[in-house]
Formats: sequence, C-alpha cells, structure tokens
Amino acid sequence: MNRELKIPNHVAIILDGNGRWATERGLKRSKGHDAGFKNLKTLSDYILTCGVKILSVFAFSTENFKRSKEEVDYLMNLFVTGFKKERNYFVERNIKVIFSGRKVNLRKDVVKAMNELEKITKDGTKGILNICLNYGGQSEIVDAVNNIILDGVKEVDEETFSKYLYQELPPIDLMIRTSGELRISNFMLWQLAYAELYFSNTYFPDFDEKEFDKALVEYTKRDRRFGGIKK
Ligand code: FPP
Repeated sequence: MNRELKIPNHVAIILDGNGRWATERGLKRSKGHDAGFKNLKTLSDYILTCGVKILSVFAFSTENFKRSKEEVDYLMNLFVTGFKKERNYFVERNIKVIFSGRKVNLRKDVVKAMNELEKITKDGTKGILNICLNYGGQSEIVDAVNNIILDGVKEVDEETFSKYLYQELPPIDLMIRTSGELRISNFMLWQLAYAELYFSNTYFPDFDEKEFDKALVEYTKRDRRFGGIKK
C-alpha cells in the first residue's frame, strides 16, 4: 500500500452487481451472491488492515424484499450459513461485526446468526464491519424519531439525534458504489452528509484490493471542505 494515501476513517460500500456478474457468465444470480459474499470476507479484512476503522456495507435493503421469493430465500440462507461459517475468520482477524437495520421482520434463524456473530466478535479491536441488513436510510431516521418520541424528548440537536440511529458511528468519509449505478439508493442518508462519493464500473464480486486502492487514490485527491472556504 502506498504510504502517501489518505486513509478514510469510515468507508461505506453499496455492494452492487452480483446478479449481473453471474448472468454475464451464464450462471444463476445466486452464484453472484456467493461470489459477492466470498469477496466481502477478504475485502473487509484488507480495508480494515489498511487502517480504515469502520466499514459499512449494504447487504440487504428493506426494498430487496420485493425480489422473487426464491432470491430472498437464497440470500437469507446465505446469511445464516455464511455468518456461522465465517465466525472464526472475523475473530482471528480481530474484526468486530455489528448490524444495522430492522431485525423485527427478519427470519428468526437469520436474527440468531446475526446476534451470535455480533456476540462472538464483540471484542475485536482492528476495526468494525457494520453490515446493513433489512436496512433503509429513511426507515432508520423514522425509527430514530419514534424512539425520541417514546423517550419523551422534546427537542434534539444533531449530536443527540445521532445517538438514536441504529449504531453510534462517526460520519462516512468515503462512499463507494460498484457496478456503474450512480445512486445512493436509500443508504445511510444521515451518515453520508459530507461523504466523498466514488463510483466504480466493476461488479462487486470483482471489486478487489486493487480496485479499493484506486478508490483511495481518488479519495486522496479530493479537497474536503465541509461547506467551508478553500484555503
Ligand atoms: C447486489 O447485487 C447484492 C445484493 C442485493 C445482495 C447482498 C450482497 C451479498 C450477498 C454479498 C455480501 C454479503 C454480506 C453478508 C454483506 P444485485 O443483486 O443488486 O446485482 P444486480 O444489480 O446486478 O442485479
């Protein structure tokens, strides 16, 4: 890794293009999800080893339930088996895994696998992998507002509001979307306020360490002013 590169504190990735990756190879879409999961495992370790402290990834949106039952079931089964199988991988690499999203209407076995992975990795100190599953940015804000009302709080500022989000995380510095789509798709709307955006044409299963390094090169060139004046 090039030492001149600026390392963002919090990186977010919209993992897109698994389906197209598979279709272009004459495979079923599910094979693309398998390949995406495999890639996320090694890529997350690489990114956190580079010095990034938090990596948030969009694994399943609240809107993804509109996909065919076959695909939704496949993904849920992949989460259950994948989270169980890879427990040691994350523990050995000192990675703390957390989840963001609505657990209430997820299958019980999925929630169980999520809770177990969170518990077994809770002491990880290298970095945090925040997996957004059954997640929507607008739902997160609505859920926060409802919890604020339930707590009887009459007025909030940005700092207090942030504490009501699914996880207390610092702002996102760099947001990457793979596969050539140029959208935010209801991902971490609050946390993305001043993020630098990077779009790659590569499908997620092929978005490897080299592709991530390219994003870092681009991020290093960005002049982040947070609404201030260029000095
Ligand atoms: C996006 O590709 C991928 C998803 C909606 C599925 C979730 C991601 C994975 C299984 C990989 C990582 C896994 C975890 C647990 C974080 P797409 O299906 O939208 O592809 P397309 O746009 O080409 O159809």
